Amino acid sequence: LIEIKDLYENKENFIDKEIEVGGWVRSIRDSKTFGFIVLNDGTCFKPLQVVYSDKLDNFSEVSKTNIGAALIVKGKLVATPNAKQPFEIQADEVYVEGESTPDYPLQKKRHSFEYLRTISHLRPRTNTFQAVFRVRSLCAYAIHKFFQEQGFVYVHTPLITGSDCEGAGEMFQVTTMDLNNVPKTEEGKVDYTEDFFGKPTNLTVSGQLNGETYAMAFKKIYTFGPTFRAENSNTTRHAAEFWMIEPEIAFADLADDMELAEAMIKYVIKYVLENAPEEMNFFNNFVDKGLLDRLNHVINSEFGRVTYTEAIKLLEEHNDKFEYKVSWGVDLQTEHERYLTEQIFKRPVFVTDYPKEIKAFYMKLNKDGKTVAAMDCLVPGIGEIIGGSQREENYEVLTKRMEELGLNEKDYQFYLDLRKYGTARHAGFGLGFERMIMYLTGMGNIRDVIPFPRTVNNCEL
Ligand code: 4AD
Ligand code: MG
Repeated sequence: LIEIKDLYENKENFIDKEIEVGGWVRSIRDSKTFGFIVLNDGTCFKPLQVVYSDKLDNFSEVSKTNIGAALIVKGKLVATPNAKQPFEIQADEVYVEGESTPDYPLQKKRHSFEYLRTISHLRPRTNTFQAVFRVRSLCAYAIHKFFQEQGFVYVHTPLITGSDCEGAGEMFQVTTMDLNNVPKTEEGKVDYTEDFFGKPTNLTVSGQLNGETYAMAFKKIYTFGPTFRAENSNTTRHAAEFWMIEPEIAFADLADDMELAEAMIKYVIKYVLENAPEEMNFFNNFVDKGLLDRLNHVINSEFGRVTYTEAIKLLEEHNDKFEYKVSWGVDLQTEHERYLTEQIFKRPVFVTDYPKEIKAFYMKLNKDGKTVAAMDCLVPGIGEIIGGSQREENYEVLTKRMEELGLNEKDYQFYLDLRKYGTARHAGFGLGFERMIMYLTGMGNIRDVIPFPRTVNNCEL
């Protein structure tokens, strides 16, 4: 079978030749003696128009096919210089590989994203979702390419773990215990000794802690895999299952970390603009006008950099506009993040050096004793897309911090070993893959950039 993408890219090779294509019916119109079918085969956006007539042995069977049916069409490709499309196929044979029924949920009209979310098994057959998931695939490839070209080692960190990297307690527990009959200790606590791992375990919220151990051996590594958070926030940018990219670099500080993050984002944007021009034009025309201008501006300008303390001063001047007022010490809400990047900086911006109270235990304490060497990268339209930091590499400072937070040293022995045996400055970050896709496509809801999204109260398919 010839792919439709090939027809558009190498038209000269196929015009006036007999070809055979397979695809799904997007629309069909028929009259008494002839008909038109618009066929899409998923290899590119553009469909192929099929013209058929009652010369077909199975003319009536073909005329009766419904939208969504799978067909194989044999015939001659002819140029159509006066039509909207550059060519069409004049069918000599049409084989109905799989019929569809009139109740096919994707009729030839615009369906809302909300409706399409209810049929996540069929929505990849629409133009929008073909574009989204082709860009998602390319973006994953671009990220691997970026790191591999620079010699980073790709590390597969475990999905089941006993630790809570972010310390937020937002974990999905993993157990083989019968929940209706949980064994208890004498003190009445859950007894995990008979459980599969003999201790409480959960799905990972981040691969970072394991990633750090490999950075202390390979110097620069990255992870790219699924992470899970039982955050009870029903927003357009939170999913319970999402993918994260987490590079970790040794002999590096926060400035190196931000440089790497900025280079990665620019590389990925450039790669996708170059390799998915049609999809990106589609988003620019139908999803987010101005997307291309914005992304082109981003690859040609420096990201902003501002400390948390400075950012709070800037935001305090606009407190009348916020639902939650800001003051030093508060965690930034999406409305504040978006105001900073959209109204004040008008480009991506790194906010650095947050108060230690609102960040994780592993971040390096700054000299002021109040803030940590953290960075969040904020982008217009979304807010936080990256969270990262320089890590505390000093054994005493780190154990003291863990004690303050009530963390059990025994659970983090491996992590503390890194600070005992050849400790070194190091830093890393986590990029939320879905948020990157939202940023690249202009899609406004994380549910529309994940093939089968998992969010609060939703685990369909
Ligand atoms: O800021 P976070 O929590 O950082 C970490 O997990 C660090 N361990 C990363 C590191 O330094 N290696 O999460 C990182 C990013 C966020 O900036 C966001 O883009 C994304 O992960 N993210 C989510 N994406 C979708 N749904 C959620 N519930 C997300 N939570 C975080
Ligand atoms: Mg964060």
